[in-house]
Order: sequence, then structure tokens, then C-alpha cells
Amino acid sequence: MTSAVTIPRHGGTGGRTAVAARARQVVKAYGAGETRVVALDHVDVDIARGQFTAIMGPSGSGKSTLMHCLAGLDTVTSGQIYLDETEITGLKDKKLTQLRRDRIGFIFQAYNLLPTLNALENITLPMDIAGRKPDKGWLEQVVETVGLSSRLKHRPNQLSGGQQQRVAVARALAARPEIIFGDEPTGNLDSRAGAEVLGFLRRSVDDLGQTIVMVTHDPVAASYADRVLYLADGRIVDEMFKPTADTVLDRMKDFDARGRTS
Ligand SMILES: Nc1ncnc2c1ncn2[C@@H]1O[C@H](COP(=O)(O)OP(=O)(O)O)[C@@H](O)[C@H]1O
Ligand SMILES: [Mg+2]
Repeated sequence: MTSAVTIPRHGGTGGRTAVAARARQVVKAYGAGETRVVALDHVDVDIARGQFTAIMGPSGSGKSTLMHCLAGLDTVTSGQIYLDETEITGLKDKKLTQLRRDRIGFIFQAYNLLPTLNALENITLPMDIAGRKPDKGWLEQVVETVGLSSRLKHRPNQLSGGQQQRVAVARALAARPEIIFGDEPTGNLDSRAGAEVLGFLRRSVDDLGQTIVMVTHDPVAASYADRVLYLADGRIVDEMFKPTADTVLDRMKDFDARGRTS
């Protein structure tokens, strides 16, 4: 007999379904008439819980749109998005805001830290706003994993870009969201700082059971993921499991070559 109490919230599926998020026949169109752009064209995708998924594809292929729709930051034109068992398409604004606050974490390319708060205050800010007390043990584990223990009293302008992004990652993790989304979270970092952040995201999946979806155009960044989804013209056209930087790069060259001859 397993008791619900002994099932960790992270690691395993914690009593939740094995699919953290789903898109079903999702269409997202911008504009109307001659200026209508179909950014997502009947997309079906399952995001596995406890996995690190990368989304790749040429500029304008719909990567950010897909991520924003999955994260409930943008509405869909038609189709459904589910977070675990909850259909988020069709939720009213207030419920959606609540769901985003309580169940989803975000890492933005521009860090989005508050300059007047120190690192620790930035990390706990979303929970402070939500009126939730951070779990002290968990917070310590997150801070230690990100390697920020000695920097907690520093303000953003006293931290390097890599450290600031690690604060943003810790902020996303601290509230123990079901899923974390990042749109090119290492896009503003040099390769060393980027590797630090990616290594940490990887460990949060391996050690903490986190689910992560990351948009990137960088084959090295994608190689930290368990699975890469390739978008083109608003459709998922391919996927790769256990990617390496070389296999991802080869696949990209392949797409480019096909693009040129078609
Ligand atoms: N707010 C918007 N208004 C009109 N068109 C948009 C808007 N956002 C994105 N698009 C269009 O949707 C398509 C997909 O964009 P996006 O998801 O940002 O692509 P990616 O992130 O892969 O570069 C592009 O053709 C883009 O021009
Ligand atoms: Mg984008």
C-alpha cells in the first residue's frame, strides 16, 4: 500500500497524470482577411511530466506562440490546452490568472528581476504576492542547487547576467510549479553563464522532478533537453529524443537544405 502522504510532490508523477500539459488541434491566428497570419496550425502535443522539452524552429515558426498558449499567457483561436486535467482554454480571466500564479513558472529572457529587491526577495516575491509561505527546506534546496547561497543579499545590479538568470530560475522553481516555461532563457547569456543555467535546469528535472519547456534556437542549449520538438510554419514537423548538439545541428542543416530546394 502506498499512502498519498509518502508520495513526493516532485519525483515520479506525484499522483498527477504523466502528461503535464497538452495541446489539442490548437490554431492561433493573428489579424483577419489579407493580413491574417496563422501562427499555429492545428497543433497536437503532449508535454511529458518530469521531462525537459526544447522547442526549436526557424524565426516566425510559432515557437513563442505555442509556449504562450501552453502557458495560458495567450488565448487560442480554436482547440484546447490542458494543464494536467484542467482545460485552461475557456477559463475566465480571474481563474486563469490564479492558475498561472499557482501552477506555472516562467523564466523570461530579460530576467525580469526587481532592481530594488535583493536576490532572495526576488526569489520569494511571487509567493509573497500570492500570500503563500515558502517551504523553507525547499527554498534552501533550490538556492543551493542554483549556487546562490552566498549571493542572496545582493541586488540584481551586483550580480552577473548568469547569476541574475539563476535568480530568475530559482524564482520560478521556488513556488514548486507543475511546469516551467522559458522563452530563450539563456539567449542573453554568454556561453559559460548559459551552461550554468542550463545545467541547473537539467538538475532540477533530474533531482527535483521538475517539468520544463524551453524555446531555443541554440543546438547546445537543446542538447540539455530530453526531447526536441521542431516547428515550421505553425506545425510540429519533427521531434528528437536524447538530442546531442551534433544531432540537433545536423537536423537543422537538413531542414535548411530542404527549405532551399522546395
Ligand atoms: N501579436 C502578433 N500579431 C500579429 N502577428 C503575430 C503576433 N505575434 C506573432 N505573430 C506572427 O505569428 C508567427 C509566429 O510568431 P512567433 O510565435 O513569435 O514565432 P517564433 O517565436 O518561432 O519566432 C509569425 O509569423 C509572427 O509574425
Ligand atoms: Mg519567439
